[in-house]
Amino acid sequence: MQVFRKLVCGVCVSLNKHTGGVRTLSTSSHRAQSVMQAWVIDQYGDNSVLRFTTNAAFPVLHYPNEVIIKVQAAGLNPLDVNMRGGYGAATMAMKRDPLNINKSSSEFPLVLGRDVSGVIMECGLDVGYFKPGDEVWAAIPPWKQGSLAEFVVLSANEVAHKPKSLGHTDAVSLPYVAATTWSALVNTGGLNKDNCSKKRILILGGSGGVGTFAIQLLKAWGAHVTVTCSQNAERLVRSLGADDVVDYSSGPVERKLCDVDKFDLVLDNVGGETEKWALTLLKPWSGAKYVTLVTPFLRNTDQLGLCDGMMQTAVTIATKAVKHLSNGVHYRWGFFSPSGSVLDDVSEIVDTGKIRPVVEETFPFSQVPQAMQKVEQGHARGKTVVTIAEDRPE
Ligand SMILES: NC(=O)c1ccc[n+]([C@@H]2O[C@H](COP(=O)([O-])OP(=O)(O)OC[C@H]3O[C@@H](n4cnc5c(N)ncnc54)[C@H](OP(=O)(O)O)[C@@H]3O)[C@@H](O)[C@H]2O)c1
Ligand SMILES: *[C@@H]1O[C@H](CO)[C@@H](O)[C@H](O)[C@H]1NC(C)=O
Ligand SMILES: *[C@@H]1O[C@H](CO)[C@@H](O)[C@H](O)[C@H]1NC(C)=O
Repeated sequence: MQVFRKLVCGVCVSLNKHTGGVRTLSTSSHRAQSVMQAWVIDQYGDNSVLRFTTNAAFPVLHYPNEVIIKVQAAGLNPLDVNMRGGYGAATMAMKRDPLNINKSSSEFPLVLGRDVSGVIMECGLDVGYFKPGDEVWAAIPPWKQGSLAEFVVLSANEVAHKPKSLGHTDAVSLPYVAATTWSALVNTGGLNKDNCSKKRILILGGSGGVGTFAIQLLKAWGAHVTVTCSQNAERLVRSLGADDVVDYSSGPVERKLCDVDKFDLVLDNVGGETEKWALTLLKPWSGAKYVTLVTPFLRNTDQLGLCDGMMQTAVTIATKAVKHLSNGVHYRWGFFSPSGSVLDDVSEIVDTGKIRPVVEETFPFSQVPQAMQKVEQGHARGKTVVTIAEDRPE
């Protein structure tokens, strides 16, 4: 094991030299302290708070089950734009420091970026599933430092081997939306690969990150998939396998959808007004579920503090659950949940060719603000990704 650790250290040093941007600082401690390049924010606000630095703290292993990943590519999500503006700040602070012991500690400088594809650089002593050099991907929980940096530290159970058939820039478009969709459809919606055939699923908002993944996963599992999107996205969602496509930009979808057969599950990526009519599209008294990803959870906890926020949230969900159970359908909130084992399954499906990445635009590391702006504009057709290091063998 000692030999192994020394070997790891050797790898680490050569990588540092290789990237050129990472300097090793000499310290009195035996552990080398270094810095790295990253885009950080020092306060919440608009895009102007994004700051490039060559001086960001190099991640360190705090637990024996952690790994350090050299980031090759990062993916952005609407959550990054929200977090830049302070969304979820109270909840995330609580999650980072649950007992609120260290009142002086600050979340800044904060690194955004929730998707990572890269190479394992160092493993904690308890990590057996990965070794340095493995090509991996992960969805980064919002309370951890993100992937708009040269390196990121994650717990090994959040990480998986990336699909062999994809390069890093394509691969990185999938982890966060895949983990979210899986959590919403499987954990919350009760679907799996064996009980989807003949099920009728409606996806509200099919052209964005979550939608383009959800269509492909459900088709791979044999479901019948109906999608709403604007007209210029119809070709895209059909190419991903959508059976029926309803254009929401040319008049109310609810009118077009009320004539079709009822659904077993609705996945809502749009929120707002949709809840007023979409619940009536479900088969009543058959266990049908309405799963929405657009939840007020973080907003409530930010505005009201964690305790009150949770109360408020619990009240909201209880009211809705009771109300819609009485109509014979279940109303549920779906949430992102980090899981390496889910990503292992997704990796396998991707390598069979049944799911392909949908990358809308790729930006170089120097253009993170432009990438963030792209996500902020909305109207996504798949994902916005950032290349951090060139795809090249180390
Ligand atoms: N709860 C969670 O843990 C969680 C996790 C991930 C995502 N989310 C949320 O889920 C939503 C989707 O995420 P995403 O990553 O897929 O976002 P995204 O990539 O920005 O995609 C959103 C898509 O919805 C389309 N759209 C907007 N209004 C629509 C409407 N009325 N009907 C049909 N389509 C519409 C947009 O295109 P057009 O504007 O051109 O129509 C866009 O393609 C976001 O609100 C996100 O915050 C929640
Ligand atoms: C508290 O925060 C400071 C500044 O971030 C840090 O140096 C210190 O190690 C933290 N202490 C604990 C107990 O986490
Ligand atoms: C799918 O199968 C799982 C596990 O067997 C079950 O718990 C779930 O209720 C099923 N869902 C549907 C919609 O049939």
